[in-house]
Amino acid sequence: MNPALTQIGDQMSNLTGVRAIMKDIVETLQAGAGREFINLSAGNPLILPEVEQLWRDCTAELLASDEYGEVVCRYGSSQGYGPLIKAIANDFNRRYNLKLSDRNILITPGSQTLYFYAANAFGGYSSGGDLKQIVLPLSPDYTGYGGVSLVPEALIAYKPTLDIDVSAHRFKYRPDFSQLTITENTGCVIFSRPCNPTGNVMTDEEVRKIAALAAPYDVPVFIDSAYAPPFPALNFTEMTPVFGSNILHCMSLSKAGLPGERIGVAIGDAKLIQVLESFQTNMCIHPSRYGQAIAAQAINSGALAEIAERVIRPFYQNKFTVLENTLNAAMPQDLPWFLHRGEGAIFAWLWLKDLPITDWELYQQLKQVGVIVVPGSTFFPGLRESWLHKQQCLRISLTASDAEIATGMQRLAKVTEQVYQRAAVSA
Ligand SMILES: Cc1ncc(COP(=O)(O)O)c(C=O)c1O
Repeated sequence: MNPALTQIGDQMSNLTGVRAIMKDIVETLQAGAGREFINLSAGNPLILPEVEQLWRDCTAELLASDEYGEVVCRYGSSQGYGPLIKAIANDFNRRYNLKLSDRNILITPGSQTLYFYAANAFGGYSSGGDLKQIVLPLSPDYTGYGGVSLVPEALIAYKPTLDIDVSAHRFKYRPDFSQLTITENTGCVIFSRPCNPTGNVMTDEEVRKIAALAAPYDVPVFIDSAYAPPFPALNFTEMTPVFGSNILHCMSLSKAGLPGERIGVAIGDAKLIQVLESFQTNMCIHPSRYGQAIAAQAINSGALAEIAERVIRPFYQNKFTVLENTLNAAMPQDLPWFLHRGEGAIFAWLWLKDLPITDWELYQQLKQVGVIVVPGSTFFPGLRESWLHKQQCLRISLTASDAEIATGMQRLAKVTEQVYQRAAVSA
């Protein structure tokens, strides 16, 4: 059967960005049956025993409680499960000295859904026919933003400036405020902090500056805090969540051990929350409640924030150190390689300046030596201008064993060295 698809049907059934690469990776792993690959591509968090135990304990408590039937046998409110909303409001009010009420919080089935609501409620064509842009102020950013708008031309990303420490082989992206434009044609702003794929954490000052640029036009700023404190607390540098009248602080419980339960959270102005809630009613009535019920317990008891700081953060921070130390030892000093500062999230981001081949070709060569990473060019959704840098980066996942990360980086160093050498010989 070959049904005719609508424009939207066509668009949404396409494999975009990293999904296309993931298909290639799955096929590589299947075709190479028996061959050992070091897979440094995954965005799926590892199962950490203490974190799994927390969710097991919360589940046992829920099963034994009178609330169980109410949670799984009945529909609930579109806004989310009341006790989870209350738990988050109490926790954030105490922790950050806020005055949140339950009207300031929406629970969604995963945070990806939240960006879909945001992109289409605030971006796209207005009833007057104007195109309202979805602005990504610092590209590269989360590849998942690439597919969220039903009006792809609405997505626009801005090239960053680069802070480069040549002798240390490190760099950091910063928003380029000389280019970033937020006007009455902007529908909303979205960025991740800490950032997937780069591990960048925009400073509090940079975030405030972006929010201040958006405020005069009543433009909501969605801060994707999927890796931020208080949970999963995957920041390796100091950062404070920033709140404000036009800021929606968006969280995910996926990297806190519950990706299978699909829990996203938006915190912000009641009017903005109401818009998103109505979108949600139309889309799915409400997110499933079992995950929300166990999350409410783990937040109320303080266990989630505690485990995030004591277990989740050091686990991935240590992986980054292994990766960084191996690259320092294995990469030739005279090559222009630059590792993005590891400020958070569960990835490392490597920039190979003047790389003689494309990131896709390098990805293929790395597969030949049994190492799978993700070519960086898939992480620039909305950035239309040509920029060689887009083909010079790799995302390396920290979700492997220390030994695999070390071996993977040694092989990567060798392949990279050969690539530059071959180009020098043929030049
Ligand atoms: C930056 C960022 N935002 C959002 C998501 C989506 O997360 P979820 O829908 O599981 O909450 C991810 C997933 O990897 C992510 O890395």
